Amino acid sequence: MGGGAREHAIVHALLRSPRRPEVTCAPGNAGIAGEARLLDIDADDIDGLVRAARSEGVDLVVVGPEAPLVAGLADALAAVGVRCFGPTAAGAALEGSKAFCKEVMVAAGVPTAAYRVVEDPADGIEAISSYPVVIKADGLAAGKGVVIARDESEAREALEDLLVRRRFGTERVVVEEHLDGEELSLLALCDGRSALPLASAQDYKRIFDGDRGPNTGGMGSYSPVPSVDAARAADICATVHQPVLDELAARGISFHGVLYAGLMLTPDGPKVLEFNVRFGDPETQAILPRLRSDLLDLLEASTIPGGLENAELEWALETAVTVVLASRGYPESSSSGDVITGLDEVGPDVSVTHAGTARGDAGAVVTAGGRVLSVTALGTDAAAARASAYSAADVIAFDGKQLRRDIAQRAA
Ligand SMILES: Nc1ncnc2c1ncn2[C@@H]1O[C@H](COP(=O)(O)OP(=O)(O)O)[C@@H](O)[C@H]1O
Ligand SMILES: [Mg+2]
Repeated sequence: MGGGAREHAIVHALLRSPRRPEVTCAPGNAGIAGEARLLDIDADDIDGLVRAARSEGVDLVVVGPEAPLVAGLADALAAVGVRCFGPTAAGAALEGSKAFCKEVMVAAGVPTAAYRVVEDPADGIEAISSYPVVIKADGLAAGKGVVIARDESEAREALEDLLVRRRFGTERVVVEEHLDGEELSLLALCDGRSALPLASAQDYKRIFDGDRGPNTGGMGSYSPVPSVDAARAADICATVHQPVLDELAARGISFHGVLYAGLMLTPDGPKVLEFNVRFGDPETQAILPRLRSDLLDLLEASTIPGGLENAELEWALETAVTVVLASRGYPESSSSGDVITGLDEVGPDVSVTHAGTARGDAGAVVTAGGRVLSVTALGTDAAAARASAYSAADVIAFDGKQLRRDIAQRAA
């Protein structure tokens, strides 16, 4: 379930399964419509989703976005006996509350930035010992709840925005030490007991080249990251993901689904910035096309305690590069109704997944949101993958198209 390019990539990977699953997607989008049957049910309609899962006789629900997990979709499905890939609300709180996430990390001994949780701006200012400092809304904020304040006036402004004006409805704020380094996304499949790391990835959050401009939902990604091979990923997983699973288990929470660590590779080793509880967007668009193992088997096994015990992952040797095409005005706003051309002209080594798209009047595909499409190409190395991703991205056209030109440049 879900309607973005991440979900489109998941649908692609599931349809590659030799078990030939029948895939239905709620609510999906104009691209997913070409490959799976759609159900017109919103991501926040938990009752509607549960009802549909039962009436459709669904064997496995794969949840894309975080909000329904935080709202208890997995719990509601479990209550009616439908298998769900994605944690219960108690586990999803790792993403739903940054304060809870920090508390679990400290209890589990996972390396993370020093922090304080505060409830009013004056306490926030007092908690700060140096600048820059990072100020984070406690709840879900769609990637907009984090401010890096360079001085006291910026910190005060951010604290008041969050705690007095209640911009995201949060009552608490995490004030945390600023870390330097390169960022890494390391996702792991979890079966309640153990964590199985996926290939490493990096995403690009800022709208403009050179990491300038405001944060977005993600403008591109690539996988794997050359400095984080399978052995290093396993190391990080053992010091980051596994202790968190163990800590949750000790609290009676069996975590099934993706545990996504957003990491900073600091001079003192990797430190966790945050956990998400679902596949990343746009990392998933770059990770899954390289997966040679059967995703369906893996997701199903994750729902069973200890189900991943003997699982091994096989990856294509190529590098995958994903370039996101966004519409005019993104991320402050977005535009819709612009006709998209060139979708049929991309090469066979390229996969285009849809996010903000819709069917226009004459059947044309048109823009319908901020992030419109993800263009993913595989190549023998990052340079080759970049070249083919960008040539496809250039063939696809619509008014106001925005894209970054430097995705995976640092790996090429
Ligand atoms: N302690 C930190 N030091 C430096 N940068 C940070 C820190 N925490 C977060 N950031 C930056 O802010 C971004 C968003 O923070 P994150 O905790 O991932 O929240 P969210 O994804 O929910 O917005 C990170 O990807 C990173 O670029
Ligand atoms: Mg993040």
